[in-house]
Amino acid sequence: KNLKIVEHPLVQYKLSQMRSKDTHSADFRRLLREISLLLAYEVTRDLPLTEAEIETPMARALLPVLKDLEPCFISILRAGNGILDGMLDLLPSARAGHVGLYRDHETLEAIEYYFKVPEDMAGRLTIVVDPMLATGHTAVAAIQRLKDAGAQKIKFVCLLAAPEGVKTLVEAHPDTPIFTAALDERLNEKGYIMPGLGDAGDRIYG
Ligand code: PRP
Repeated sequence: KNLKIVEHPLVQYKLSQMRSKDTHSADFRRLLREISLLLAYEVTRDLPLTEAEIETPMARALLPVLKDLEPCFISILRAGNGILDGMLDLLPSARAGHVGLYRDHETLEAIEYYFKVPEDMAGRLTIVVDPMLATGHTAVAAIQRLKDAGAQKIKFVCLLAAPEGVKTLVEAHPDTPIFTAALDERLNEKGYIMPGLGDAGDRIYG
C-alpha cells in the first residue's frame, strides 16, 4: 500500500520512449521534464486546501488556497535534477534542496558528498526525487538524512523501481509513500534495473 504506480497513459507512453536506446539526451531530457509534471500532479494530489477571501473583478468570494507552505522538492544528485526541473516548472515557488549521493560500484552502498536543504522543511511536504530506485540504498540514506534535518512528511518519487528497492525502502521508512511510473522486473548483478532505461545520469547528461 506504500507503492503507487502512476498508470496515466501519457506517463506510460513517454516512459517507453525514454527507455528506447534510440532516444538521445535532448529528447530524453524533454521527456523527463514532461513526465515530471505529471508525476508532480499525482504526488501533490492530496495537498490540504483551506479557503481564503479573494476579490475577483466581480465580487468577494471564499476560494480554495493551499493550507500549508508550498512543498519542498529534494533532488538526489545528479539524475534527480532532471525531475526537479520539471516539478519546479509546475510549482515555481516551491523550495528545493539537493542531496549528493553516489553508489560505490563494488558494494553498491550510498556515499554522501553533498547536502544542502531548506531550513523550514518541517512545515512542508518534502518530495524526494530520483529517476531510479534500484537497491534502495540511496533513497534510504537520503530519507534518513532528511529526517535528521527535520523533514516530517516525506514522499519519494521515481520513474523506475525494482522490487528489491521498494522492499528495502518500505522496510526502512514505512512512513514514506513511493510514487513510480513503473515497477520493473528485477536488478541485474551490477545493480541496474531490468529492463530499465540504462544509467539515468548518463542519459541525461551524457
Ligand atoms: C543512480 C540513481 C540513484 C541510484 C539508485 O545514481 O540515480 O541515485 O543510482 O541506486 P540504488 O537504489 O541502488 O541506491 P548514481 O549512483 O549512478 O549517480 P548519478 O546520478 O550521479 O549518476
